[in-house]
Amino acid sequence: MVLILSACSSDQLTKPLEVELEKAIKRASPTGEFDHFILPDPTDFANIPQDPQNPLTAQKVELGKMLFYETGLALLPKHAEGKGTFSCSSCHVPEAGFMPGRAQGIADGGVGFGQNGEGRVKYIFYNDEEPDVQGVRALNVMNVAFVPNTTWSGKFGGTYNNLGTEDQWVGETEINKLGLLGPETQSIEVFTKVHRFLMNEQIADSLGYKPLFDAAFPEVDQSERYSEIPAAFAMAAYLRTLIANDAPFQQYLKGDETAMTEQEKRGALLFFGQAGCVKCHNGKPLNNPDQFFAIGVKDLYETGQAIKTNVNDKANLGRGGFTGKAEDLYKFKVPQLYNMKETPFFFHGSSKRNMQEVVEYFNKAEPENARVPKDQIAPQFRPLGLSDSEKADLVAFLENALHDHNMHRYVPDQVLSGNCFPNNDLQSQADLGCQ
Ligand code: HEC
Ligand code: HEC
Repeated sequence: MVLILSACSSDQLTKPLEVELEKAIKRASPTGEFDHFILPDPTDFANIPQDPQNPLTAQKVELGKMLFYETGLALLPKHAEGKGTFSCSSCHVPEAGFMPGRAQGIADGGVGFGQNGEGRVKYIFYNDEEPDVQGVRALNVMNVAFVPNTTWSGKFGGTYNNLGTEDQWVGETEINKLGLLGPETQSIEVFTKVHRFLMNEQIADSLGYKPLFDAAFPEVDQSERYSEIPAAFAMAAYLRTLIANDAPFQQYLKGDETAMTEQEKRGALLFFGQAGCVKCHNGKPLNNPDQFFAIGVKDLYETGQAIKTNVNDKANLGRGGFTGKAEDLYKFKVPQLYNMKETPFFFHGSSKRNMQEVVEYFNKAEPENARVPKDQIAPQFRPLGLSDSEKADLVAFLENALHDHNMHRYVPDQVLSGNCFPNNDLQSQADLGCQ
């Protein structure tokens, strides 16, 4: 819709890149429209996908924007030393593409931050079984409004792909019975049980959050207003506004032909065309909201940089570990692709260390994980035969054109406790320059 095809005859003769790219994007778009891949503005609530049971409001987003970083909620640590030291953003660091900045995130049981989370290590007061860590790399939560079923296995969320999986909704996924979308479902489930945060009226009052809860949830009875579910709803609302709408590719889609370099445009043409990336990454933020695939990457325990996980971790089984179906084994969600260059860990097992390695992996299409049976591997995962310069073009598109620099707008200046964040242990305070 936005690009105007030039009628100039020389353009037609030379078939400029822009014309090719527009055609490729339209062909790849499920709607056939050029504007399919345009992401909404973070304040354009009417156009951001949301849960009907948790409609977006500015007040909820404002509260969630604080709580996500609030180390004052870290009140259920395994050891007293961890109290008040971690937050959701310990594992979802904005400057690290909302990922941990290391192969495996550590919240409770970790100490230190470094520059972007890479300096966090296990606290000496904790043994290997005690820290809050998971057996897969933390996902980038950007553009999560477009993820109806969250986690690498898609297990959270009581709708979409999880309809028909009701028999599996026991234990941690019993929460799916609420019928909420992924971000809301997961935020409720992990808040206390996994990540060891606490919220009640006394905490909301002592940290100064009561007025924000009152503004965000006036319809909720006061006896329930300052509790876990409203806190989780506010965080899910905030996460839904983390949209990479300022990335150069987005500006290009909206009509600014100069927003991408020639090399990035060639890379985009490969992504939407010959390299076939868009066959799987066809959702708005270049994720896939409907399908899971096996591409045979290694698991997190194999990095040698992870604790509390091993060859038998159910997380290694991907979607099949949740549905219990043989056909789903080793299949993982197709993640979104914006702001991925800031942290050198790619895939669910952090097996690749930069975008060149990722592109080379897709180009060669040789599964690196021998435990994944060949017949599970996606047929679209096949050798691409890209030249060195084509690979460089694709990397340029992925690293730069899909990179929204303006993350500052999504991070609060301070949280109401006045605590340091994302972490608040003494080493992190020093690393982050708090006091
Ligand atoms: C200890 C590290 C850690 C902390 C703390 C943490 N997360 Fe995560 N987060 C992860 C990991 C790991 C995944 C991927 C989990 C999986 O696939 O099983 C994830 C995934 C997510 C996703 C799903 C994204 C997607 O695209 O599917 C959401 C939403 C999320 N986290 C929200 C939160 C919220 C809200 C908090 C605070 C209440 C939080 N996280 C705290 C590690 C963490
Ligand atoms: C068969 C479907 C499929 C195709 C084709 C495909 N991808 Fe993916 N992609 C996936 C899946 C599934 C994952 C997650 C795999 C995992 O971690 O287990 C992924 C992960 C990624 C990641 C890492 C994201 C993260 O959070 O770590 C990048 C980057 C990526 N793909 C880029 C590409 C590019 C570039 C192409 C084209 C050359 C491509 N993909 C083609 C399915 C596909």
